[in-house]
Amino acid sequence: MLYLADTANVEELKKLFYYFPIDGVTTNPTIIAQAGKPMSQILPGLIEIVGDKMLHVQMISNKAEDMLREAKAYKQKYALGDNYFAKIPVTEEGYKAMSMIKEAGIKVTATAIFTQQQALVAARAGADWVAPYVNRLDNISSHGIEVVGNIVENFEQYGLDTQVLAASFKTVDQVHRVSMMGSHAATINFEILERLRSHPMTDMSVEWFEKDAEGLYDIDF
Ligand code: E4P
Repeated sequence: MLYLADTANVEELKKLFYYFPIDGVTTNPTIIAQAGKPMSQILPGLIEIVGDKMLHVQMISNKAEDMLREAKAYKQKYALGDNYFAKIPVTEEGYKAMSMIKEAGIKVTATAIFTQQQALVAARAGADWVAPYVNRLDNISSHGIEVVGNIVENFEQYGLDTQVLAASFKTVDQVHRVSMMGSHAATINFEILERLRSHPMTDMSVEWFEKDAEGLYDIDF
């Protein structure tokens, strides 16, 4: 499973890209608002950090024609390449926009997905990735993990190339469970990425190793 960072905070991203095998960044309007700056000031920084890894940028327009113009504008203004994905919510206009954007040679991530059928329709509309919202489903007494599992299974059954980018996490356990469901990728915020890679027993073990090694590791390096 690929790990993506669900943040537009430059300091967090610098740290993640330095230490963690991160495969890309996802943004949405809420994430941009949390970063506290307009897109024109955030996007260039993200592009620099991401390099050739994936960059998923959410469109804010709500008409298909405008989503297409918006997707093209980012691509042109920032000379974005094949690692750029226009994130499109699965509204009526969004589904229409997906095929138009794909025809224009831009890749698509279908977002704000809450059911397996929405994901299947998005795949048929040409989406490269679909992003089901795990925690938001869990919070309405639904089952985010199960929805992710159903989508993965369906895509396999129908031989679709569309991949699953599970999103919206509040716990490490949710991330663990979507990986067990075969999700191709997960986009996760800084705090949970930090929590999932660390363990107090690891830190303690390293401390013990260092103590035991005192005076014994005498080969120069
Ligand atoms: C990413 O694509 C999603 O927009 C994001 O993961 C939603 O997360 P949230 O439910 O924590 O806002």
